[in-house]
Amino acid sequence: MPKINIAIDGPAGAGKSTVARLVAEKMGYIYVDTGAMYRAVTLKVIEAGLTDGNNPASIAALAHKLSLQLKLSPEGQRISVNGEDVTEYIRTLEVNRHVSMVARIEEVRSLLVLKQQQLASAKGVVMDGRDIGTHVLPEAEVKVFLTASARKRAERRFNEMDEDSMTLDELEADIERRDRMDAEREISPLKQAVDATLIDSTSLTIPQVVEYIIDLCQARF
Ligand code: C5P
Repeated sequence: MPKINIAIDGPAGAGKSTVARLVAEKMGYIYVDTGAMYRAVTLKVIEAGLTDGNNPASIAALAHKLSLQLKLSPEGQRISVNGEDVTEYIRTLEVNRHVSMVARIEEVRSLLVLKQQQLASAKGVVMDGRDIGTHVLPEAEVKVFLTASARKRAERRFNEMDEDSMTLDELEADIERRDRMDAEREISPLKQAVDATLIDSTSLTIPQVVEYIIDLCQARF
C-alpha cells in the first residue's frame, strides 16, 4: 500500500497528540509533534531571558543557532536541542505561557516549517499542529481538524497535569488565550483547511476518533 501523509490540526487540548500517536501506531507510520518543536525553541528563549515580548529579532537570531534533533517513532518523539534532550522540560506552565508569542515570529516559523516538510518528504507521517493542512503539508492526502469545547479541553488537560498550580477555570482561560493568539496571528493562523474533515471530539472517545481517521485513510485506497 503506498504511504500517505496525515495532517491533524486543531486547538490546544483537543487530543491531537494522543490521537496522532495512536493513528501512527496503527498505520506503522512515524508521528511528528510540531508543537514540541515550538516548545523546545520557547524553552531556550526562556533560558536566554528573551520573554518580554519585545525581542522578535533576538529570538529569531537565537532560533537560527539552535539545532533541533527529533527521534521519531510511532510511539512518540523525543526532542533534543543542540544535543540536549529537552523532552521532559517543554510542557511546563512557563513554556505554555510564552509559546504562542514565540510561534508568531516569522523567522521561527519558516525555520521549523522547512524542517517539518523535510521530515514528511518520504511520506508515512502523521503530523499534528496548527497549520499542517493549510501550510506545512497542503498536499497531505488526509487532513483532519480536531476540536472540542474549551471546557472539555481544559478538563482533559487538568486531568493530565501533575502540577496542581492551576484551577480548572484558570486552565480554561489559558487555553482560550492561546487559541485566540494562535487564531489571530498573521502568519499561518490556526484555521481549518478547506479540504479538512472536521471532527468535534467533545462527546467522542479517543478510540472513536482514531477509528474515524483510520476509516478516512482507508477510503483513500
Ligand atoms: O500542540 P501544542 O499545544 O504543544 O503547541 C504549542 C504551541 O505551539 C501552540 O499553542 C502554538 O502557539 C504553537 N504551534 C504552532 N504551529 C504548530 C504547532 C504548534 O504555532 N504547527
